[in-house]
Amino acid sequence: MALDPSALDALFNEARTHNAWTDQKVTDDELRAVFDLMKMGPTSANCAPARFVFIRTPEGKEKLKPALSGGNTDKTMAAPVTVIVAHDPHFYDHLYKLFPHNADAKSWFSGNYTLAEETAFRNGTLQGAYFIMAARALGLDCGPMSGFDKSKVESAFLWDRGWKCNFLINLGHGDPAAVFPRGPRFNFDEVSVLA
Ligand SMILES: Cc1cc2nc3c(=O)[nH]c(=O)nc-3n(C[C@H](O)[C@H](O)[C@H](O)COP(=O)(O)O)c2cc1C
Repeated sequence: MALDPSALDALFNEARTHNAWTDQKVTDDELRAVFDLMKMGPTSANCAPARFVFIRTPEGKEKLKPALSGGNTDKTMAAPVTVIVAHDPHFYDHLYKLFPHNADAKSWFSGNYTLAEETAFRNGTLQGAYFIMAARALGLDCGPMSGFDKSKVESAFLWDRGWKCNFLINLGHGDPAAVFPRGPRFNFDEVSVLA
């Protein structure tokens, strides 16, 4: 059943990328609620390679700061939460649990580095997108970012788990006064082929 127009507006038509934040906090319960929607989005072989680090303390933000590009620094330091969307290159070690009806699934990836890397990145990126939409569905705003030094984020937050960094998402309640003018979008016929 199609969602009603106000839900579509909240998820898509009126949802914006945010660069400034109100003082309203994001609770750990809200982070768990976003996760619990995100996790239901599909991934290949149900591999769920995305991993998340939720940075919401001043100490964590200071640790992140040296990795941020100039234009992303102030808004990230001000955001209630910054999420590192990462992925586990060894995601296939968990397929016995996530894809139990096929005992061979691990072997598809464990001996094929290129396939494993592509699968982790593709599905981890999808899960990052599901995360944005889940956050919007729960009344939160997002500011995704790729302007940062990946290796610095990995050495500050991810190296001990062996996770790889994909992108960052600032999360909070956006200040609508501070959004950029909406950029144009392609229309269907410009970028689609009906084959
Ligand atoms: C993966 C990704 C990376 C982005 N990186 C940055 C960034 O580093 N800095 C920034 O200011 N905006 C960044 N953006 C924001 C985009 O420019 C913005 O989402 C896009 O222009 C659409 O804006 P709208 O949602 O308000 O229509 C990024 C967005 C995405 C999805």
